[in-house]
Amino acid sequence: MPKQIRLNAFNMNCAVHQSPGLWRHPRDRSTEYTSMAWWLHLAKELERGFFDGMFLADVTGIYDVYGGNSRAALRGGIQVPLNDPFMLVPAMAAVTEHLGFGITGNLTCEPPHTFARRFSTLDHLTAGRVGWNIVTGYLNSAARAQGQAKQTAHDTRYDIAAEYMALMYKLWEGSWEDDAVRLDRTAGVYVDPDKVHRVQHEGEWFHLDAIHLSEPSPQRTPVLFQAGTSTKGVAFAGRHAECVFVGANSRHGMVPVTQNIRANAVAAGRRAEDIAIFAMLTVVVDDTDALARDRLEEYRRYASPEGALTLLSGWSGVDFSDCDPEEPLRFVKNDAIQTMLSPVSRSNPEQVWTVGRAATHYALGGASPVLVGSPTTVAEEMIAWVETAGVDGFNLTYTVAPESITGFIDRVVPELQNRGAYKTSYGPGTLREKLFARGPRLSSPHPAAAYRHPV
Ligand SMILES: Cc1cc2nc3c(=O)[nH]c(=O)nc-3n(C[C@H](O)[C@H](O)[C@H](O)COP(=O)(O)O)c2cc1C
Repeated sequence: MPKQIRLNAFNMNCAVHQSPGLWRHPRDRSTEYTSMAWWLHLAKELERGFFDGMFLADVTGIYDVYGGNSRAALRGGIQVPLNDPFMLVPAMAAVTEHLGFGITGNLTCEPPHTFARRFSTLDHLTAGRVGWNIVTGYLNSAARAQGQAKQTAHDTRYDIAAEYMALMYKLWEGSWEDDAVRLDRTAGVYVDPDKVHRVQHEGEWFHLDAIHLSEPSPQRTPVLFQAGTSTKGVAFAGRHAECVFVGANSRHGMVPVTQNIRANAVAAGRRAEDIAIFAMLTVVVDDTDALARDRLEEYRRYASPEGALTLLSGWSGVDFSDCDPEEPLRFVKNDAIQTMLSPVSRSNPEQVWTVGRAATHYALGGASPVLVGSPTTVAEEMIAWVETAGVDGFNLTYTVAPESITGFIDRVVPELQNRGAYKTSYGPGTLREKLFARGPRLSSPHPAAAYRHPV
């Protein structure tokens, strides 16, 4: 029996996410992102295709590294205008039964107490279908929007994140015992005060004296996602993440990355398989390989190389606006996403990536590999990834929306199912149970479990 492939749709509450320029395609409808109907349609489609979740990316600043200003981002609609990801979830949950929601939340701009409550609220309303993509940001513009001169240094952000997580576990897991809510109408006791615990946290970065305001939700701690594979990032993932989202360029290049993530889980006292790894992937599928290649060429006519370099500049912190297209890409250590340029260097080392090549490649599906072919070709390559690269599944980007997702569901999903590599119905329970089949809540040796009061 082949390993079951996990799938998330990679999305963002804007029109232009990973494929700049495609919004101009005559069949693209991504500019409808401001309407409720758009999101309800997408959610229902994903559930029809048995997707595990919709993964919502987010940033809290503008892409202004390219050319040193935000003109290119605004002109191309590059992840701007951009709305809040959290607000979408209750509506989409109301029209679905199983679909999970991975929501990106930047802990450097979210006060822990209110942030914990927002997730608990969503976990209640979705009956345990939410996950949190833990990020610390990479844009100086986001830091400036909060009154800072620039963002905190890369590695320090991970130190802050470690303390933030401890505080979140205290709130989500430790503040309320499971049977704290009594609802004893005769005695007039709603909550047993002895079973609700005050969190007093005096740390290096955070100070708090409060109880968590929400009663325990189905999962308590949402399913924890993390993306970022620098040394600090992987150590953080090994300790905290249940799902890791990785940029990928080639199947073989992924092997050391997935091995490293799993080794870090083991170093943190967890099992290698306690982490589900999702590789970013873009699929262009049609009835035959030739038709799929034609479709790719047609899509590429609308792709924007300037938009791609605007994204890449923001992700990497390097301004590519006045680079010669023949200039080779180089790795720069800074406070942005340190590994953003490394998928490139992980592909065939004999093929040098130039700025021009990156402008073409990143314009369709961002940093992800692009699988082009018939349903059979795509399904077999996806299965090969899961069998040989150590990944558990994929975060699928959209190109022309929603046809790229609908086309995937109609054409590739049945091929995966025919090969026994993809579910034909959802498993029971919360998102965590569907992903790991080990109960709705985090259990030992994950550090969150240690904060919960024994039943
Ligand atoms: C594939 C991928 C997706 C990411 N998505 C987001 C995102 O949606 N929002 C965000 O603020 N950071 C995002 N990040 C950034 C990382 O989560 C991380 O906080 C940070 O930039 C450090 O990454 P590093 O450890 O690879 O240097 C993403 C990173 C990667 C590799």
